[in-house]
Amino acid sequence: MFLAARSPYRRVATGNAGGPAGTIATVTLPVPGVFDAPSSDAQVSVSRFGKLAVATVAATLVLIGLGGFVRAMEAGLGCPDWPTCHGALNPPSTLGYGALKLAWIEHSHRLWAALLIGLIVALAVAARRQPRNVRTVAYWLVPAVLSQAVIGAFVVWWKLDAASVVLHLAGALTVLALAVYVTLHALGRGRDVPSVGVPHGLAYATLGVTLAQMLLGSLVTGYAAGLAYGTFPSFNGRLLPPVLANEQQWLHVAHRFTAYVVVALVVALYARARDAEPLVRRAAAVAVVLVAVQVALGALNIWFRLKAWSVAPHLAVGSWLVTALLVVAFRARWAARRAVDAETSTAYEPVSA
Ligand code: HEM
Repeated sequence: MFLAARSPYRRVATGNAGGPAGTIATVTLPVPGVFDAPSSDAQVSVSRFGKLAVATVAATLVLIGLGGFVRAMEAGLGCPDWPTCHGALNPPSTLGYGALKLAWIEHSHRLWAALLIGLIVALAVAARRQPRNVRTVAYWLVPAVLSQAVIGAFVVWWKLDAASVVLHLAGALTVLALAVYVTLHALGRGRDVPSVGVPHGLAYATLGVTLAQMLLGSLVTGYAAGLAYGTFPSFNGRLLPPVLANEQQWLHVAHRFTAYVVVALVVALYARARDAEPLVRRAAAVAVVLVAVQVALGALNIWFRLKAWSVAPHLAVGSWLVTALLVVAFRARWAARRAVDAETSTAYEPVSA
């Protein structure tokens, strides 16, 4: 109890990872990286539910990365039908080499999606003994991921229509956000946050603008606006773009300028997070690195004329950036909520005579 009040990380180290007794795995694992506890010798007992939640986040990120690969390889219609592929369960070997390659690229995305659905169903089942908020979010993951499968079907039926692809990405980011929420709780980094040292408004704004930038990027791809200006950082040799003549130029310019806003916000978040709790500080540091990589990949997209090796990682790294920002935003939100709760309970404390 004393430990819990003094440090939330200690509380985790005692094995109270949000699950009921009996769900804690017998192995005690050191968890390096952003989930490190503050003291160097601290270790975190990860419950089976926690491992399942981490696997769900990882599988979601892999699926988003695969989606980027499918798009970068122009394999979105490698299987022109859905749920079958060329009328069969698996791509038929009678296809020629080129068509078979595209079919397998697209099909691997579908197979991984099936794995993710299985993981999410298992997570929802395992969540039945979790606290109500975690349980509810884990249950919501099931319709969220199933809707993604349906939207994926429309992406194929509507021949990669730009709006359906953007919606598909929005759905993927929603699944990611729900999975990160569950994972933070499952790893004992849930709601009971005394203070994280980062203004929650800044954390929300950074996350919100980055999510908008992801969807804007998807529109840039969907409307073939990636090379609306063929130089970077200039706009065809000019510091600022001349009159914007068409929707491709508008989208392209909006994506570039929003990128600068994202960079400024991520750097500001990092600056404010220097004295924050270790998890938030490290997530903010990871975000700075990722946003720098993301801008570099954006530049490579233009300099090398949208090669698959820069286009595919551009989506994957974007999703990692969103994950780091989700960690900061959730922690900041829970800390802010707890501060309000503490204030309210102090305000209503009975005055002793
Ligand atoms: C800093 C934050 C950034 C984020 C989060 C971001 C995110 C994205 C996303 C999600 C896509 C869609 C990828 C896909 O559909 O497969 C995209 C496309 C694109 N982005 Fe970014 N981007 C960022 C910065 C930049 C910068 C600075 C540039 C440089 C100009 C850039 C250039 C591009 C281009 C050219 C495309 C279109 C690729 C294509 O047509 O295949 N991005 N971006």
